[in-house]
Amino acid sequence: MNEALTVEGLKVYYRTEKGTVRAVDDVSFSLARGESLAVVGESGSGKSTLGLTLIRALPANASIVSGRVYINGEEILSLSLSDFRRRYSWRVISMVFQGAMNSLNPVLKVGDQIAEPLIYNGGASRGEAQRRAMDMIELVGLPREFYYRYPHELSGGMRQRIVIAMSLVMNPRILILDEPTSALDVTIQAQIINLVKDLIEKLSLSVMFITHDLALASDIADRIMVMYGGQIVELGSAERVLGEAPKHPYTEKLLASIPRLRGETIPEFIPGRPPDLASPPPGCRFHPRCPYVFDKCRSEEPPLFKVGEGHVARCWLHGE
Ligand SMILES: Nc1ncnc2c1ncn2[C@@H]1O[C@H](COP(=O)(O)OP(=O)(O)OP(=O)(O)O)[C@@H](O)[C@H]1O
Ligand code: SF4
Ligand SMILES: [Mg+2]
Repeated sequence: MNEALTVEGLKVYYRTEKGTVRAVDDVSFSLARGESLAVVGESGSGKSTLGLTLIRALPANASIVSGRVYINGEEILSLSLSDFRRRYSWRVISMVFQGAMNSLNPVLKVGDQIAEPLIYNGGASRGEAQRRAMDMIELVGLPREFYYRYPHELSGGMRQRIVIAMSLVMNPRILILDEPTSALDVTIQAQIINLVKDLIEKLSLSVMFITHDLALASDIADRIMVMYGGQIVELGSAERVLGEAPKHPYTEKLLASIPRLRGETIPEFIPGRPPDLASPPPGCRFHPRCPYVFDKCRSEEPPLFKVGEGHVARCWLHGE
């Protein structure tokens, strides 16, 4: 079995005052061992909800309406939360949460924050945990003495390295990174991306890299999964999705919106707004913004059509 993780028919909805928000709406995919998969989409497309589901860390108003998630062949959504936490959290699958670098505990030394799970969940002694935390600090490219620093004594890039060290301390095989660089400037962003690439290689990690930035995705990912309105709209190898012409009009628009250093083309904005997931548009969810829309798109929801080897797109242009 070559899959690190398999997701089948996953639906995750939030209860809100406005009604039911269909944040993840029938999502199926798998992550191969050693693969890095970028999950790309605008704000509100369901990326974080997907990640939080996979590590069983959804907020209380969320419910998993249907679906299965397999890790190493075992279905993990049906495990009790305590069972999942004991056997999977941080030691098999872990996550760098969106914005985590800004929510480190300000009154604790960063090293103690890295060491904590080793003592409380890993049964390590304080000395062992401290040594391991220092090893992790070194692994993410910082001096061991940084163990004794407080979050406010570190730059944004350094804090992001600490958060990555925390996610890896229990030696997980699968890592989800949720927008790990969006709060950083471009130079630091590149350093963090290089660090993540090194770690993938060194630790043979399987990685899900969540970002709204398609350019960043192209730099790190073997495959790209484009989400729109809680659904996958395109999934394929990075070469196919980005190198050749993209097969979904939304991906095309995302690509056209990337600023180019050279060349004549001016980046385009994607007109309109992402759908309201409490009442998504009928038919294709992208139809109110799509330049190719035709009658069928307004009433019938397209399935994912095969558009090439290992490449699918949710668009009627590729179907009957
Ligand atoms: N705790 C919550 N309660 C209610 N609705 C939520 C909650 N968290 C997210 N949502 C809604 O679920 C949908 C998907 O949100 P999610 O945070 O998963 O998107 P995202 O792709 O991660 O966006 P971003 O790029 O802004 O991080 C959105 O419509 C959002 O408003
Ligand atoms: S199904 Fe229709 S509206 Fe949707 S992306 Fe394809 S062409 Fe555009
Ligand atoms: Mg998010």
